[in-house]
Amino acid sequence: MLTLLFAMPSLWNDFAKPLRDALADTGILADLVQEADPATVDYIIYAPGSPLQDFTPYTRCKAVLNLWAGVERITGNPTLTQPLCRMVDPALTEGMVEWVVGHSLRHHLGMDRHIVNPDHVWTPTCPPLARERPVTVLGMGALGAACAQALQALNFPVTGWSRTAKTIPGIPCLQGEDGLMQALSTARILITLLPKTPDTENLLNTARLARLPQGAVILNPGRGPLIDDDALLASLDAGHLGHATLDVFRTEPLPADHPFWSHPQITVTPHIAADTRPNSSARVIAANIARGEAGHPLLHQVDRQRGY
Ligand code: NDP
Ligand code: OXD
Repeated sequence: MLTLLFAMPSLWNDFAKPLRDALADTGILADLVQEADPATVDYIIYAPGSPLQDFTPYTRCKAVLNLWAGVERITGNPTLTQPLCRMVDPALTEGMVEWVVGHSLRHHLGMDRHIVNPDHVWTPTCPPLARERPVTVLGMGALGAACAQALQALNFPVTGWSRTAKTIPGIPCLQGEDGLMQALSTARILITLLPKTPDTENLLNTARLARLPQGAVILNPGRGPLIDDDALLASLDAGHLGHATLDVFRTEPLPADHPFWSHPQITVTPHIAADTRPNSSARVIAANIARGEAGHPLLHQVDRQRGY
């Protein structure tokens, strides 16, 4: 019988039953608990914001399984020496694809013009076709690649950018600083799905934002610090960027007096692009524990050196 510590009290009511069901379906005999003698715990199911910050006493723990995809609030914890796995889940990916496609189409079709029309002005317009509006996706991992493929299926010409080379039919994927400059220079819609690491912080600074075509739209469901806030505001105010739809921020919740809230060319969504759904993520966790118990390498392990 394994002991699984669920270390995020605020999520217990949502996750306890789906986890127990998924463990039973996988044939794992486990006691899922909120409290345990640390020396008896086999796996920790975790989320950022957990009161558990000192992993030192969990001497028997084989892995910490994160319920979130992003791990930047955990990777730096010096007491965490156990393997750390992040969440890669088809439902999380589906949610992100829906958010990205929905907000891309909003800007592509100019929907706001007709949704917010207080003076009842009749202004027929003909937007370009998707095939005429190049999109760039920064970060071609689990989420970025799925979003890129969904947009490609709608005929947007999509370019990707990632740390290592990728081969995805019909989607050129670039690397390095030259590749980034090239990917930015064509991006009429730019989607940032990078993790927050020392290498990606403030990636979109004044110089790189200036590479985007006039009127470009940014969608950021990745992490707030990927974009220099002041550079973003300056580029919007100067009329270079057309709009930014932001789901993630340096401080969350976004403070009520933050200029993003009132900026006419910024849309704020409250970190809802892709939630971790209990039923599907519980199956991912159970499957990974089953792998660990069968002696197979755990899936989705975080490279602590790279930070993601
Ligand atoms: P992955 O780890 O699967 O993908 C990350 C991608 O970023 C990879 O393609 C990776 O390149 C690339 N990358 C990382 N560092 C660099 C760099 N320095 N230069 C270029 N490319 C880099 O992550 P996911 O796709 O699962 O998630 C991405 C992020 O989305 C999460 O880290 C999280 O911040 C955010 N997120 C937001 C949510 C929301 O609701 N707003 C929900 C879930 C996640 P390579 O492939 O070569 O390794
Ligand atoms: C995640 C997130 O990282 O919700 O999963 O941002």
